[in-house]
Amino acid sequence: MIEKIREQAKRRTKPYGCHGWDHVERVYDLCCFIGEKEGGDLETLKIAALLHDIARDQRGDHAKSSAKEAERILRTLGFQQTKISRIVDAIKTHRFSGKSKPRTLEAKILADADKLDAMGAVGVYRAAAFGAEIQRPIQSTIDHFNEKLLKLKDMMYTKTARRLAEGRHKFMLAYLKQIEKETKLLS
Ligand code: NI
Repeated sequence: MIEKIREQAKRRTKPYGCHGWDHVERVYDLCCFIGEKEGGDLETLKIAALLHDIARDQRGDHAKSSAKEAERILRTLGFQQTKISRIVDAIKTHRFSGKSKPRTLEAKILADADKLDAMGAVGVYRAAAFGAEIQRPIQSTIDHFNEKLLKLKDMMYTKTARRLAEGRHKFMLAYLKQIEKETKLLS
């Protein structure tokens, strides 16, 4: 069943870029890793991870539209309503700039996994890819670290994610220091 959902999700996701298929696969792996340590229903986590960004290309709140699309897919595949609600709820609340906060453990883990993938070396790659996608100059990408990405470590819900975030945060600080030096922003 997971494989069927993976196929559906992959078909709806770009193979490259900031929110490319590689992002979904990393979030999936992070959800499995965190879920094994923190508990939570692994099947719910895996499916929520695969479907969390399927409506990325649509306007408006992508978490909400992805949740809606996920609900439709899971209904077609014959999932029970209680399971669907749990998965859909996690997707709906995963956005770190969203208004609705994650309530269930699975929702918290998905939100943490998604934030972790915006940090560290992968975070640097994704910030640059995103900058290119929205045609943002280098300084705005650097500002994005200070305004958003450096805050993520204090926004984790689970202990396991907090631990993983530490190293990634340190790497981003070192990266920022170095890029500021190279671009002479401090002189
Ligand atoms: Ni995501």
